[in-house]
Amino acid sequence: MSATLPLYVTTPSVPTEAELVALLRTALESRRLSNAGPLNHQLKLRLSEMIKVPHLSLTSNGTAAIEVVARALEFRGKVITTPFTFPATAAALIWTGVTPLFVDVEEDFLTIDPDAVEQAMEDNVSGILGVHVYGNPCDVVRLDAISKKHGIPLVYDGAHAFGSTYNNVDVSRYGDATTFSFHATKIFTTAEGGAICVNSPELHRRIELLSNFGIESEDSVVDIGINAKMSEIHAAFGLANLLHYHDDLERRREIRDCYDEALANVKGISILRDRPGISDRLQYYVIRVRDGKRDNVQRDLKSCGVFARRYFYPLLSDIKAYRRVCPSASNSFPNASRAAAEVLALPLSANMKKEDAFRVASIIKTSIS
Ligand SMILES: Cc1ncc(COP(=O)(O)O)c(C=O)c1O
Repeated sequence: MSATLPLYVTTPSVPTEAELVALLRTALESRRLSNAGPLNHQLKLRLSEMIKVPHLSLTSNGTAAIEVVARALEFRGKVITTPFTFPATAAALIWTGVTPLFVDVEEDFLTIDPDAVEQAMEDNVSGILGVHVYGNPCDVVRLDAISKKHGIPLVYDGAHAFGSTYNNVDVSRYGDATTFSFHATKIFTTAEGGAICVNSPELHRRIELLSNFGIESEDSVVDIGINAKMSEIHAAFGLANLLHYHDDLERRREIRDCYDEALANVKGISILRDRPGISDRLQYYVIRVRDGKRDNVQRDLKSCGVFARRYFYPLLSDIKAYRRVCPSASNSFPNASRAAAEVLALPLSANMKKEDAFRVASIIKTSIS
């Protein structure tokens, strides 16, 4: 990408035409376009082996993945989550008849604050839904203890965290279930798509059933499910993209390192820290811009063709539609509110060149000086 072309917060990695066509041919020749076809089977196997998880289900997207998990774990009443996330996290709960009970995030990593979770616990709470924000895992150890103490399931929205490990274990091995998004904005993409990883074979079976209308066999429907299946076309796209996945990660690392170098010790901004113990965090490169200058920086970047994004702004608790159905939205969330006013996700993709990152950093430095 040349320095004069626009830079977007993410630019999807795509396979070559030949790579994609070679995989699509299976679907075209067999006319199996959906319903657990051979490409779904292959992708499932490849991903499970890659991230070393025992049970992985593919889904149509990351939002449907959360909805299916909410049903599978019989969430009802309230589920504790945070307002510092993409709308899908809370919307999926609401669409399954559950009220999000918003609590604040930790100052450093912007993931759900275990102390706040403990304080918010009440009789009507049926689960905890943490978000591995920008790929930083939640405090999985403390959350695990809280979920066990209260006897309620713990789920992670890992939309940003595919491939991340914590203490050398894939993030999805923590909690009862983890959902991923393979949307075009994600490091590994099937264009639209997602996955659910669980440790329990029984839960896995229920998730597979619920993702396919609850149909067990030709003459047996055993549950009220939904259509959350990934098509064979999307699976083909994913398999083709896997051919470049590790190279893409390497290029993202290079860009991250350039940003780290160029933005270290710049007065007025801080670089979001990794939680100690994680492998890599390559979904977004996030800075915090202090002193109310974030929106100016975003504007100055935009005027130079650099489209950074305020992930996550506005807080869900500040959105009228959520305030109407979530009484907890009127509480105060000091860490999340500060973060929503300061965060800026900079362009990060495998298509970028090192000089792109240095150019972005230089615009930022000029903007805040
Ligand atoms: C934190 C988070 N959760 C869930 C989703 C929803 O994923 P999808 O777009 O695949 O439905 C996203 C999407 O970007 C997200 O950022």
